[in-house]
This record gives sequence, C-alpha cells and structure tokens, in this order.
Amino acid sequence: MTSEPSAPDRLRSLEEPRYLSASFLRADIRAGLVVFLVAVPLCLGVALASGAPLMAGLISGIVGGVVVSVLSGSQLSVSGPAAGLTVIVAAGIAELGFEVFLAAVILAGILQVLLGVFRAGTLSHYFPNAVVEGMMAAIGIIIIFKQLPHAVGYDADHEGDLSFLQPDKENTFSELLQAFAHIEWAAILISVVGFAIVWWYASDKLPKPSWLPSSLLIVLVGVAGVLLLPGLGAQFVLEPAHLVQVPNLAKTPASEWVHLPDFSRVADPRFITLAVTLAIVASLESLLSVSAVDKIDPLKRRSDTNRELSAQGAGNILSGLLGGLPVTAVIVRSATNVTAGAITKTSGFAHGVLLLVFVVALPSLLNLIPLASLAVILIAVGYKLASPSLFVRMFKRGWDQLVIFGVTLLVILFTDLLIGIGAGLAVGVLFILRRSVLSLHLSVRSVPGSETEPVVIRLSDQVSFLQKETFLAELDRLPSGRPVIIDASHTQFLDPDIREVIADFKEQAVHRGIELELRGFGHIDQSLVSVNRLVGLSYSRLLSNNRLWAEDKRREDADFFKDSAKEQLPAYYFLTCSDSRILVNMFTGTDVGEVFIHRNVANQAPLHDPSLNSGLLYAVDVLKVKHLIVCGHYGCGGVEAAMKDDLPKPLNDWLSGLKEVYREYRSELELLAVDQRSRRLVELNVLRQVRNLVDSDIVRAAWARLQPLEIHGWVYNIHDGLVIDMKVHVTGPTNAR
Ligand code: CO
Repeated sequence: MTSEPSAPDRLRSLEEPRYLSASFLRADIRAGLVVFLVAVPLCLGVALASGAPLMAGLISGIVGGVVVSVLSGSQLSVSGPAAGLTVIVAAGIAELGFEVFLAAVILAGILQVLLGVFRAGTLSHYFPNAVVEGMMAAIGIIIIFKQLPHAVGYDADHEGDLSFLQPDKENTFSELLQAFAHIEWAAILISVVGFAIVWWYASDKLPKPSWLPSSLLIVLVGVAGVLLLPGLGAQFVLEPAHLVQVPNLAKTPASEWVHLPDFSRVADPRFITLAVTLAIVASLESLLSVSAVDKIDPLKRRSDTNRELSAQGAGNILSGLLGGLPVTAVIVRSATNVTAGAITKTSGFAHGVLLLVFVVALPSLLNLIPLASLAVILIAVGYKLASPSLFVRMFKRGWDQLVIFGVTLLVILFTDLLIGIGAGLAVGVLFILRRSVLSLHLSVRSVPGSETEPVVIRLSDQVSFLQKETFLAELDRLPSGRPVIIDASHTQFLDPDIREVIADFKEQAVHRGIELELRGFGHIDQSLVSVNRLVGLSYSRLLSNNRLWAEDKRREDADFFKDSAKEQLPAYYFLTCSDSRILVNMFTGTDVGEVFIHRNVANQAPLHDPSLNSGLLYAVDVLKVKHLIVCGHYGCGGVEAAMKDDLPKPLNDWLSGLKEVYREYRSELELLAVDQRSRRLVELNVLRQVRNLVDSDIVRAAWARLQPLEIHGWVYNIHDGLVIDMKVHVTGPTNAR
C-alpha cells in the first residue's frame, strides 16, 4: 500500500549485511504499526471465541510479537492467538479449567520445540503449491465476507473468526444478510472513506504521502469519525460495541488476569491428549502460514521451518506460563504485514512491543478505533490474498492443479482450514495414484503408415511383472514380416520377468520374420542392447523414430516447435568431423537452436573453402555467435589417412592442409609409438585449424569491429565421451598465438 523501494532494490541491499539499515527500520516499524492495529481486535476476538479471559488473547499476541518473531525462522510471518485453534481451546478450557489448560499449552510448547529439533518442519515441503494457494485464496475470500458486516457496523460475530458456521448461529453468508439489516451509518461513512483511501493509494496517477501508510490514515480517519460524527446527530454515534474494546488493566482486579498454570493433572490422559492435539494443530497452522507467507514475500525468501517450530514452541511455553492462549504463525496478520511493506522480522517484533505498551499504558486510545476501519484494512488484505490474478494463474496451470486448488478453496470456505487442507491433500494424492496406475499400462502404439513401417512398442516408466500377461499378448498379436521396435528410453524400471520375455522374443522374432530393434535399453540391460548389431536395420525406422521424437518433444512442451521455429539464437559455432560418433548436442547437453554446426572430414578449415566460409560468415556476421569451437576427435579416419601416401585424389586434395601439418611435425611424431602418433596428429590438426580461423578475414573483421568472439580447440575422446580442452582460447588478434 505504500511506495517502498522495489523488490530487486531491497534484495540487493539484503545481500549486504546491513539488515538493520535505516530504510528497513522505517518500513518495518510502519508495517509493525499496521499489524498491531489489526492484531488488537483479532487477539480479543480469538480470546472471546475460545471462552478465555480477554487478557489471555493479548498476552498471546504480545508473546507472539516480542518473543516468537525474534526466534522465528521466518522474516515476515506474524504470530499470535489463532482462530484455527478456538474449537480445541474452548473445549479444553471447558473440560479441564483455564489453569490446567495453561499447563497443557506449556507441554504443547515443549513438544513443538522437540518437533523442531527432530526436523518435523520439513513436512511443510510436502504441502503442494495448489493446496497452499487454495488456502490463501480461501482465507482471502473468508476475510472479505467476514469483515463486510464489521464494515457496515454489524459486529455480532467476533473478530478473527474464519470458520463457516459461526458462534452467533449464522454462517459466513447468512451473516451478510443480517448485516445489511443492521446498518450503522457512522460505520458506513467511515468504511466508504476508508475504501476511498485504499483506492487512492492503489492508483498510480494520484500523488500520496509516502511517509503515511494508507492503513494508518484509514485508522486516523476512523478515529476522527468516532469523535466528530456524533455532532451530526444521534444516529451517527458509534457505541463501544462497534469499537475496539481493550480491557483497562488498571481497573481490572489482578485476580482476573493473573492466571498460573496448574500441573496437578499431568497424568490425566485428557490433559496429555489436549497437549498433543494443541502441539500438532498449532504446528500445522504455523507451517501452513509460513508457507503462505513465503509465497507472497516480494523477496521470495524461504523460511527455516524447523527453526519456526522450535520458536513457536518457545512462544507457547512462555505464553502458557504468563496465562496466555497458544500462539501460532497466523496468516491474516502475516499477510497484513507483507501488504504493509514489512522487510524483516523487526516488523513483527515492533507489533509485539506496541501491543505491550498500548495495552498496559494506553488502552483508552485504542478503544477509539472503530472496527469498521480495521475491516477496510483487512478486506484490502483479503483482496490481495484472493486476487483475480491468482485465479488466472491457476487456470493456466492445467486442470489437475485447478481441481486441487478449487477443492481446497471450497472446503475451507464451507468448513474450516484444516479440513480444507486435508481435502486438498487427499485430492492431490488421488491424482498421484491415478497417474501411477495409468503409467502401469503398457503403452503400445503402432505407428500409422505403410505396412512396411515398424510397429512401435513403447514401454512405460515402470514395467513390472503385472504387465507380463498384456505384454505377451501384445507380442503374439504382432504381424509377421513387419519390423518391430521395442522402445525403453522412458523406462526407469524393467522387471526381470519382462526382460526374459524380451530375450525370448528376440529368438522368436527371427523365426517369425520380424526385424526387431531394441531401442533405449542401454541404461537398463546391456545384454539386450547387443541384439541391435545382429539385425539389419531398416530405413523406415528413421521415419517412425522421427514421429516418436516429435511427439515426445510436443508432450514435454506443447509450444516447443512453435517457439524454436521462430528464430535460432546459437551462441556456439562448431567445426567438427563428419564421424558418426560425434553427437555434439548430446555430449554438450545443448538443445535445438543452441549450436551451429559445420562438419567435414577431419574438421578442416581451409581459408578458401566456400562451404566453410559461407557457414562461418553466417554464424559470425548474422547469428553473432560468441564462440567458435574446433572439435577434433581421437580415432579420426581422416587424420589417419593423412599419414598415408597414395590417397584418392579428392581426399588427397581435401587433406592437403593436414598433410602439411604431418610433414611439418613428422620427425616429432615418429618418435612416438604408432597409436600415439595419430592421437598427437589429431591434436596438432585442431591447433592448426584454430589458427586458420584466427587468420580468417571473417573473424578478423569481427574483431576489428570489437564484436566479442572467442576461438577454442577441443578433442573429443570417443573412448570415454569426454572432451579434452586444448587450452587455446583466442579472444582477439592481440593474443592470437
Ligand atoms: Co574424424
């Protein structure tokens, strides 16, 4: 809501160790102030709904701010009493009494510290994105619906309630109908002005005071309304029920807010059950909140969730000792924190200190704040959480993600947080099961085309003995005389039973006149691969393989060919040998459009070869490649030929440059063993061709116009697939040679 430095600017300063710089401090204190304002009624509302003393909610808020934010593993999450715990807390207090309940909170805290120590926070990595996003959208929508009644001055439901069925016997939607029958005109006026302020601050065109956050202005206007509107007439008086109502500590007898934990029931199973339930639910809520906050953190930081659990545990131990409600990280206050422009945990700490100071010393000031103003702030936060762009994003992510998101959202909206999360997770697991069941099916496809084209059997990711029956039946159905490809390139696991079937089929195929190719078995079973060399390879398999390849590419990325057809932007030019074992894209891990390749026998770069020069000209002048790489290879037939006399004329002409190198180094080469000789000549050849490129007019002209261009020399070792860098890196005419 305020104009703060942009996220990248902040990130840059975060990299420097000036965490507490003045600009951060200012932004954090402003955000802390806003969070504090919305936290006051939320703490009171949760206490009210839990059937606990009001002060217990405030104590929990203060502990969450002052203690948990300091220890927390998250920079932006805010902790305090949670709406999601009210049912458990209310039942616990009713059953065991408040003092025994406090002891259970302490035990729950100890358990949470242990959960953190044993790294249970790692669980949060298993919340699917779609579930966390569904939760955020649901909470956003819930805040908007639940706060609308407060915005018009109908305050029957307590603040901070997130569940569908409300304690006032209404639900989220029927409450809205009630609200519009009980309108307070002063509240409406305050809200309308508040929304106008939100709109003003959100607009790019209007100037606004950057030192005054919109939320603070909304509250100030609200307080002014409470003080001034009654001048317009009796119908504009806002009763205390429509304002924040912090109990005045000075006027409250100590016996009402000093409560000490009672450990007399530690052996009672109901006590233990309560403590364990609190520990589990509070931990879940905290982890979910922290996951949600990490998603909306403009700096995209990732919180340490194990540290967060221990911090929450410490908070609960202290809150229980002081007579407070259990704390968790809470989404609404955390989202308010992010929206208000917080940068570090200083903001959460500031909110705690402000709570402490105002509750102890200045409660009457807080009690001038109308709930309608806070409703406006929270509705703006709700809109951020459930923004239309989130829905657009989910629609684009495919229907299974959308279903998980939608189920989580709707179930939370109509029940409560944890049930919704459970439903979202369950749907997610169902999708995973469905996918793995589907992939159990053997995918067999006969590639359409002429009768002579191969039938392709593609094995799926996991092929177990469960598929043996289907597989055998499939093999029996194959027509005689037609080529067959069994493709395992996508298979991670192949059951020994199936391997045996394939090995048997290998024999059978010969008798049935089936030309069999086993494709992509290299990573599974080398003994199956050897069969490829024994059968004559058909030409038509190239075309069917091509269709499979194109289909795979499209399946990985529907727009693959659309995108790559637009243009090529290679950064590398390769000059390499025509040898069939040099798979440049494979051994360099490059893809379509990344490497411009020129090939000829023994990777020659004769300066007057029109074929070489036109390729080089296009690569350097038009494509503006950054690197020219000459890549020879050991075992090069061309290089070996150059050491012989009586070559056929075309080859003799083509290799004349290489023969020159050979003559030049002959005496040195003949000192080497025979097998070392050709290896050394391969290397010398690469160096000579690099020099040819350095001397090329095309390259010289590029350097003359200061175009960045480097020339390198490589030898590819066909024996181990590794590249040997010859350590020549020519970057300009000055360091040539
Ligand atoms: Co070669």
